[in-house]
Amino acid sequence: MKDFARQYEEYRGAVETYLNGLYAENPPYADLYESMRYSLLAGGKRIRPVLTLAFAAAGGVDWRQALPVACALELMHTASLIHDDLPCMDNDDFRRGRPTNHKVYGETMAVLAGDALQLDAFRLILSAPGLDAKTRADCALILSRAAGSDGMVGGQVLDTLHTPQTLDDIRLVHHLKTGAMIAGSCQAGAAFAGNPALSGAAETYGYQIGLAFQIRDDVLDVTGDAAELGKPIGSDKESGKVTYVDLLGVEACGTLVSECTESAVSAVAPYDNDGFLSALARSLTERTK
Ligand code: IPE
Ligand code: IPE
Ligand code: MG
Ligand code: MG
Ligand code: MG
Repeated sequence: MKDFARQYEEYRGAVETYLNGLYAENPPYADLYESMRYSLLAGGKRIRPVLTLAFAAAGGVDWRQALPVACALELMHTASLIHDDLPCMDNDDFRRGRPTNHKVYGETMAVLAGDALQLDAFRLILSAPGLDAKTRADCALILSRAAGSDGMVGGQVLDTLHTPQTLDDIRLVHHLKTGAMIAGSCQAGAAFAGNPALSGAAETYGYQIGLAFQIRDDVLDVTGDAAELGKPIGSDKESGKVTYVDLLGVEACGTLVSECTESAVSAVAPYDNDGFLSALARSLTERTK
């Protein structure tokens, strides 16, 4: 296969170029566009859209055609980060290596920029060129389920307004707040390719790497380097959150991350012809940003 890092770069670069073309006009509310671009183009890892593209490729179609759908996932994710950082949520001042959206543009604009990104995500899917009606509807439904009340937002409610204490409580939070969007990104790629068998594998893979991803995020909140992460460390402790790290310790978290990752790899083995999906899952276990 093409070297994993080079393939990731090719996907990421295409996502970056597509996102750069958005909100380039100068309407009377150009200040809204500016605040949306500020967060959107701050250089996230782009894992979710890369997953969509990789699953589209695994399903046997031209992944470049899936860019609008992939970027829809990234718009929704960026919206969730802007809202997650607000004073009423995690109250964080840095994100993606720069001051958070509300620190620069104020809370009103940050709420509205997040709102607009969520809704425009659906516009990208609904106006993407060349999709048949069923594929369009399938992708929009996947995004809605991943992000909505029974997905990411439900998880954010449990995380911020409830007090998850046990491993089971926290696993559900992770499943919803992070797993749902990551699984949705994978499923959107499979749906784009019109490949129902791949969809089941995409769901399992996505939830497993999603759990691993959030456990690793919680570990990095303790052991990470803020400059490298581009966001503050110690945020969970400061807001009184109980995490896997508190309950299991850093080492056992590492074991769990590896176990989830290997389940994910097994789930996609029949479809992962070039090894990209397994390499991606494994690359996330030791990530430092
Ligand atoms: C941060 O997501 C929020 C979590 C679900 C942990 P990422 O770690 O993917 O953040 P970016 O997109 O690279 O900034
Ligand atoms: C965020 O989880 C998940 C979202 C839905 C945004 P965290 O609150 O742990 O994410 P970070 O650490 O701020 O990126
Ligand atoms: Mg949070
Ligand atoms: Mg946060
Ligand atoms: Mg975190």
